[in-house]
Amino acid sequence: MRVHGGAPRGARADFSTNLNALGPPGSLVKALRRVPLSRYPDPEYAELRALLGDPARVAVGAGANELIHRLVAAFGGPVAVFCPSFGEYAEAAHARGARVFFARDEEGFLREMRKARLGFLASPNNPDGRVYEADFLNEAAKAGGLLVLDLAYAPLSEVPVFVPEGVVRLYSPNKAFALPGVRAGYAVFPEASLAERVRRLAPSWVLSSTGEAFLRLSEGEEARSWLAAARPRLFAWRRALARGLERRGFSVVEGRANFVMARLGEAQIKALLRAGVWVRPLFDKGLPDWARLSAQGPKARRLLWEVLGG
Ligand SMILES: Cc1ncc(COP(=O)(O)O)c(C=O)c1O
Repeated sequence: MRVHGGAPRGARADFSTNLNALGPPGSLVKALRRVPLSRYPDPEYAELRALLGDPARVAVGAGANELIHRLVAAFGGPVAVFCPSFGEYAEAAHARGARVFFARDEEGFLREMRKARLGFLASPNNPDGRVYEADFLNEAAKAGGLLVLDLAYAPLSEVPVFVPEGVVRLYSPNKAFALPGVRAGYAVFPEASLAERVRRLAPSWVLSSTGEAFLRLSEGEEARSWLAAARPRLFAWRRALARGLERRGFSVVEGRANFVMARLGEAQIKALLRAGVWVRPLFDKGLPDWARLSAQGPKARRLLWEVLGG
């Protein structure tokens, strides 16, 4: 079953997605509205790939998820995944009949990587916000299978995110700029031949003109300085959320990104959803008492405290 965050229309507050609560930046939205849609994008995305890195080692896609599925299609299984982590890695493997090796800790992940053809780690990890240390990542990169390091939340990490040599770097700038509807992402490969295998699996024009413009603009100076200004406020909001939850007696896992995990219990999770205060339950990750909540502003937090009391 695919479970994702995202509140229905009419919800009073949405803590359930990990998007930057301060976005999207108005100038970016305005620029995207001006993108001409009456022509095909360049089927090779040559200029964009050159902007994102060594063009021979870059593949663009309709979001990181689309690339996750293509990575599994290109390299096959068994696939090593960390638990808990983003569910799409295992979904993509299951969809292609690949075996999945689940690991519950770093030692276990290294063990599984030795037997796997492909492995996925997110740093910061979703849902616990953990940022992996260099030693572990260096070992994981050399353990056996090809390691994909999902950097979807790296721009929203409070600490620098280490990236080892020899891994596939997967990017999803729509989180940091709160524009997930655009559906655009990219991957940078350690070798051109690996990137070529993944590029060849895409249909022509896999990325829309809007997606192409979004990836280009997200690299620009204006977008970068907007994000740099937003980050400290976002981390202050995460801390206020974590402390508020702890004061009310809930266990909290506070990583280094813009979200936390909290043991709210099933009854409180249901009460929040009934009240239109949307959190992301984590039952699908084997954590039925837990929910993930993203950093939101004071107004949304007041609604949360109204339901949780105190
Ligand atoms: C760790 C992680 N990677 C990738 C994605 C998906 O990114 P995209 O919207 O670019 O497909 C998500 C979205 O929730 C995520 O949490």
